[in-house]
Amino acid sequence: MSLRLHVNVDHVATLRQARQEAFPDPVAWALACERAGAHGITCHLRKDRRHVQDDDVRRLRAELRTLLNLECSLDPEMLGLALTSGAEAFCVVPEKRTEVTTEGGLDCVQEGARLREAVPALTEAGGLVSLFVDPDPAQLDAAAAVGAPFVELHTGAYANATGTARERELERLAIAARHARSIGLRVNAGHGLDYENVAPVAALEGVEELNIGFALVAHAVFVGVEAAVGEMREAMGLPRS
Ligand code: PXP
Repeated sequence: MSLRLHVNVDHVATLRQARQEAFPDPVAWALACERAGAHGITCHLRKDRRHVQDDDVRRLRAELRTLLNLECSLDPEMLGLALTSGAEAFCVVPEKRTEVTTEGGLDCVQEGARLREAVPALTEAGGLVSLFVDPDPAQLDAAAAVGAPFVELHTGAYANATGTARERELERLAIAARHARSIGLRVNAGHGLDYENVAPVAALEGVEELNIGFALVAHAVFVGVEAAVGEMREAMGLPRS
């Protein structure tokens, strides 16, 4: 099974919202990323609508050629919107109003009751469900117990660490990926991945998809979208296009 690159388009929407303009358009960016070799597109409709707007989700769903992975929290409003979005995949994430970006993984132990309702509902709505979790075996067990087919391993701690601490975090990710697969979960990963740190995560056995946003947008400012996506594919060990 070959690894897939899913591009998170939130950061283009952030730029647009900073000036309350109609541009840059995250949908146009998503289509350009697809043409450059992205295998799927991810966005997070947050309750505070700080970047992606409801209409962006509708337009992404209508215009994408690959697939839309919608990140949503367990908030009833956001879950309701996810259920009618038509997205092909859902990633359930925690959401705090004051955070700059998603800080930690979902607490699948604590949220067990809500997840036992949300996971079947999202599946019924036609999407493959993944739960965004820290690389912690207890969280993986809880994710499997609520019936999620996928987890997305939070790579933020790995990305933020340096030296031997980074090696330890990579080992945690490797152990988590193995454990997840041993209990029947399929494995994606993401958060904080960039051109320099992505290769060891891409090489983890059993990881199917990486969700990457910020580093791609930041690099595309200098080299354009085609090169930014192509170079990321290469950094992941994939052909450039
Ligand atoms: N995966 C999840 C669940 C996220 O919330 C984010 C951030 O929006 C990403 C992946 C992508 O992170 P980054 O923008 O740091 O590449």
